[in-house]
Amino acid sequence: MTRSTLTVDVFLTAAQLRSALEDDVRHGLTTRPKSIPPLWFYDENGSRLFEDITRLPEYYPTRAERRMLIEHAGEIARLAEADTLVELGAGACDKTRLLLDAMRSSGPLNRYIPFDVSDEFLREAAAGLLDEYEGLSVHAVVGDFRQHLNQVPVDGRRLVAFLGGTIGNLVPLDRQRFLFDLNCTMGQQDHLLLGVDLVKDRDTIVAAYDDSAGVTAAFNRNVLSVINNELGANFDPDAFDHVALWNEDDRWIEMRLRSTSDQEVRVAELDLDVRFEKGEDLLTEISAKFDPTQLENELLGSDFVVDAMWGADDGEFLLALAHPYC
Ligand code: SAH
Ligand code: TRP
Repeated sequence: MTRSTLTVDVFLTAAQLRSALEDDVRHGLTTRPKSIPPLWFYDENGSRLFEDITRLPEYYPTRAERRMLIEHAGEIARLAEADTLVELGAGACDKTRLLLDAMRSSGPLNRYIPFDVSDEFLREAAAGLLDEYEGLSVHAVVGDFRQHLNQVPVDGRRLVAFLGGTIGNLVPLDRQRFLFDLNCTMGQQDHLLLGVDLVKDRDTIVAAYDDSAGVTAAFNRNVLSVINNELGANFDPDAFDHVALWNEDDRWIEMRLRSTSDQEVRVAELDLDVRFEKGEDLLTEISAKFDPTQLENELLGSDFVVDAMWGADDGEFLLALAHPYC
């Protein structure tokens, strides 16, 4: 029996994370509208809360994507012919098993490279795979996929999976830049598997981001606790309402935290005092919804050729397999 191995590369140390958080908080709280980039949701508590979100009755994307992977992972593995799975924003590495199993049955599976910003959570999730996949080399990478794509090991024939609709959390310009940067790191034999959520009726989408049990609200407010814990701020998370707003023009849902009163918040370690008016929003996340043609065009625009799409006709969710054009 061949042993599995785990290596971890860290391209975002605790000190670098902290300094990036300082920059984002200083900038985000002093410009209007106020905003915080979404990666700060995911401390350990946030990663766990996101896992709870994936099990909510209203949060359909995870179940829809899992069903599609159950049905199509075999075909994906045959088309990609990869021996290495790279997963961006891997989180709990849960749906991953469906891809790893399919790759193992259709050819030699050598390596899994989960990439995430959430260090401890990633280590735990990656370690959990070792016993299940004999001989698999697991090479976890801790980094920011907007910055560190070029640190992902390039050897082997790779399938790069970016699931969960996470690409929809980037604004269109960043999304385009991300796809282009990713394309530059990929070889001609590599494939990209992208999972995106599809545009559908407003109520279904809003419910997925404003569940009745309040888990998404807790997840959204967790970003305030992260700022409190890391930068000595005194946000009262209960003094902000969770708001999920469907933006029809941009076809994305916006997550906001709305101040319930006129209040002042101090971020001690930045020596920063911030005023919030009653009803003022802090924008924390967008989650863009796609239609198949738009996604295909965006991929083409970043020099990807689409090999196949699943869910394009009447699906809730879309999986697209593509490879670099040149
Ligand atoms: N792929 C999983 C998790 C999706 S949640 C699923 O489909 O269920 C989004 C994941 O991306 C989280 O694990 C979060 O920590 C990670 N993430 C968010 N922004 C990131 C960034 N800028 N760089 C790297 N990882 C990021
Ligand atoms: N990638 C997930 C999505 O866009 C992230 C997410 C789900 C999220 N629910 C959320 C982010 C609530 C912020 C708040 O669906």
